[in-house]
Amino acid sequence: MNDKRLIDADKPLSKSLIWHIQRAYFQKAGMQAWQDDIVPHTISCNPFMARAYGRLIVGYLQDCAADLDPAEPLYIIELGAGSGRLTHHLIYQLLPMLADLANFDQMPQVKFLLTDFTPDVIKFWQQHPKLQQLVAEGILDFALFDVESPRHLRLLNGKTTIAPQNSGNPIVLLANYFFDSIPQDSFVIEDGELGANLLSLYSGQPELDLNAADLWDQLSLAYEPLPLQGPPYETALYNDILADYEAQLPDTTLTFPHVGLDCLQYWMGFKELLLLTADRGYSHAESLIGQGNPHPNLHGSFSMMVNYHAITEFVERSGGRAFVPPHYQDNVQTLAYVLNSAEKELKATEQAFEQSVVHNGPDDYFALRQHLLKQIPEMAIDQFLSLMRWSADEADVLRPGLDHLASWVEQEPAWQEDVLDMLERVKAQYLAIRSDDDLILKIDQLIDQIAPEE
Ligand SMILES: C[S@@+](CC[C@H](N)C(=O)[O-])C[C@H]1O[C@@H](n2cnc3c(N)ncnc32)[C@H](O)[C@@H]1O
Repeated sequence: MNDKRLIDADKPLSKSLIWHIQRAYFQKAGMQAWQDDIVPHTISCNPFMARAYGRLIVGYLQDCAADLDPAEPLYIIELGAGSGRLTHHLIYQLLPMLADLANFDQMPQVKFLLTDFTPDVIKFWQQHPKLQQLVAEGILDFALFDVESPRHLRLLNGKTTIAPQNSGNPIVLLANYFFDSIPQDSFVIEDGELGANLLSLYSGQPELDLNAADLWDQLSLAYEPLPLQGPPYETALYNDILADYEAQLPDTTLTFPHVGLDCLQYWMGFKELLLLTADRGYSHAESLIGQGNPHPNLHGSFSMMVNYHAITEFVERSGGRAFVPPHYQDNVQTLAYVLNSAEKELKATEQAFEQSVVHNGPDDYFALRQHLLKQIPEMAIDQFLSLMRWSADEADVLRPGLDHLASWVEQEPAWQEDVLDMLERVKAQYLAIRSDDDLILKIDQLIDQIAPEE
């Protein structure tokens, strides 16, 4: 470390310069972060995830049905929405589920809000023809929301404001790959005592250029455990959770998502709340043990594993309900939290969580999807159609099958109608984000080839 210059000394992780770099990255890259496939989003924004969320929302609305006000909208708000693809899939998946409900007439109108903290991303959404159509239908709107200064949402098209004092129905929040991208802190338990784990940054360059392409190559991170000078947070509940970690866990390093929790507290000011969230992270206390210092996982932006266990503790100690699968989710943790609804039984939410997350959930899907994608050339047409239905018609699953479908149908014409229906479903819920994306064109050409118009 001797030949390196100290540029950021002994900071709590959440105050480190690395979060300034993170913000600058998202602001500068804008939609290119997703258009150029730099920031991963396949696991977090696919139709399977959206279908699972749709079922959870339907369950939750059934549990809340008696208290819903049909005269007021019900907002489904995505935080840090990035590409916008999760909400777009959800619109396609959820609306037919709601329309099928016996009490659909008493349900409020559902409105979807895409939010992010980068104006460039919001401009992209505003100009996207497929999203414009949904805005025109009154289903979708957009707003800026910065988790580091949470405040009321000003809807860009509806010209109205959503704030705690004017919230009517419960709010549904979606936060995928979100908590892993926002500031968190790090602590150590050493000899049974909780301490701070402070971060210093060193650079090999005399002047650090925050916009340099090789910025992360120039930086070295060094953590140092130091005794705490008092309770780490103003919020007693956060300190209580940490005190319990100190009392119950063996020596280890762990992160604490206080910025994410502050965000949750902000939204808790709005009546009842369902939070659906997916990320890499730790949902169980035992997975917090032995993780070592938190280091950024680089992919244009960076991410850090999320301490979902602490979020669960916070929710439960606030009188809320946490839905957490009992098993370890290796690819993506998917969880649901209900706040401010203590007196509700939440039976339908629980059942939906069992069916759509605990059994056959997004983590299972992703693990098997990776394996099955490689098998597509060897599949029979009925197997491929099963895979497409299981995926809820994911475009990235269709892609490797596109070249086979015409010959499959030629060999087994009985499947033609099912193939055509599937292709229409993929088209309907696909949100292209690059101007040179030719998937819809290829699907149309395939439809012409399979069923030429007379
Ligand atoms: C890893 S991306 C995930 C995007 C999308 N949710 C997905 O699953 O692909 C993290 C997102 O969080 C947003 N974000 C980062 N810092 C934020 C902040 N302070 N306030 C609100 N959003 C933020 C980024 O702009 C980005 O859209």
